[in-house]
Amino acid sequence: MAHTDQIVFFDTTLRDGEQSPGCTMHHTEKIRMAHQLAKLGVDIIEAGFAIASHGDFNSVHAIAKEVHGPRIASLARCKREDIEAAARAVEPAAKNRIHVFLASSDLHLEAKLKITRAQALDQAAESVRLARSFVDDVEFSTEDGTRSDLDFLVQMVTVAVQAGASTINIPDTVGYTTPAEYTQLFRTVRERVAGSENIIFSTHCHDDLGMAVANSLAGVEGGARQIECTINGIGERAGNAALEEIAAALITRHDRYPYTSNIKMTELYPTSKMLGEIISFQCSPNKAVVGKNAFAHESGIHQHGVLANPLTYEIMTPASVGFTGQNIVLGKHSGRRALEHRLAELGHKLTREELDTVYERFTELADRKKSIYDQDIVALLNAHDVEPLATPVA
Ligand code: KIV
Ligand code: ZN
Repeated sequence: MAHTDQIVFFDTTLRDGEQSPGCTMHHTEKIRMAHQLAKLGVDIIEAGFAIASHGDFNSVHAIAKEVHGPRIASLARCKREDIEAAARAVEPAAKNRIHVFLASSDLHLEAKLKITRAQALDQAAESVRLARSFVDDVEFSTEDGTRSDLDFLVQMVTVAVQAGASTINIPDTVGYTTPAEYTQLFRTVRERVAGSENIIFSTHCHDDLGMAVANSLAGVEGGARQIECTINGIGERAGNAALEEIAAALITRHDRYPYTSNIKMTELYPTSKMLGEIISFQCSPNKAVVGKNAFAHESGIHQHGVLANPLTYEIMTPASVGFTGQNIVLGKHSGRRALEHRLAELGHKLTREELDTVYERFTELADRKKSIYDQDIVALLNAHDVEPLATPVA
């Protein structure tokens, strides 16, 4: 049934994500990533754009052959050769999809494709029919949907549905829309397209104004049930909606978003790290959910709170998203309690006076040094003018 409480996660890290400068992946890396996406529990992997190159075709084909669980999709323009290549590439998968797209905004039709609206409608219908002659599951995307004339958008979606598309994606291709607008857009299109109750509507948001995740969730409020997103939010220009942020929002704010998904939350961090290794850059430290600092507490007030009860400053536990590192970080804003806690973890139990002495040295050091490591702290204990303080904890 199209309208359920289940959110379908459509991961496009290997297609839209790879379109991001510096994010090119080799064949074996794509396959490794696709296996991890399957482990993460995504429902659909857009494995590439089969017509784009032999390399892309081979990766989509290999993923379709050996990655089990998710549905495997390939992107195709409204061109016979694209659709045929996509069909051949996804053919080995137990569950497959052809994802056909065509621009719906006048700007794209006139400036880029140089076709009329009537020609666009014909191409959309013919292409969806052709794709359906190869596979049962066809998605149609109205590129630049959020900057399209609403009546024409409704017309284009209608012809795609009539031609046999079962998923309709309305992309915010240039990251232009706002949450309220995007919610309303889905409501209107769903109301006005005959047969929309049998269709899964999909979001696909870019992050040009930093609103991709908020817009994706807003789309869900408007009735979308598939979300297209990427790991670490990689993608064209400022990127796509970040999968890990959406998944975490659905769980953490289940009161507001009462939906279910197949995402295994503890695989979020490992998946993010794996992608970072493959593309040779990790996400920024302050990135929500999977950034190095997403669960780091440096100031004394926060550390005191978290040590007393993590809920004071954490809305989800690091472990719940698979984060295994240190979250109490020692720096110039840290307090005695955090230092005492870290020393205890390192096997050193100090008396009150000893702690006072070491804490004073620690603050002097923290004023001079940006990152304080465990060995720095231990060195403070062993400073030449201090009596040995440490009593290792068994
Ligand atoms: O951003 C976009 O419009 C796309 C489509 C091809 C779905 O990536
Ligand atoms: Zn895109």
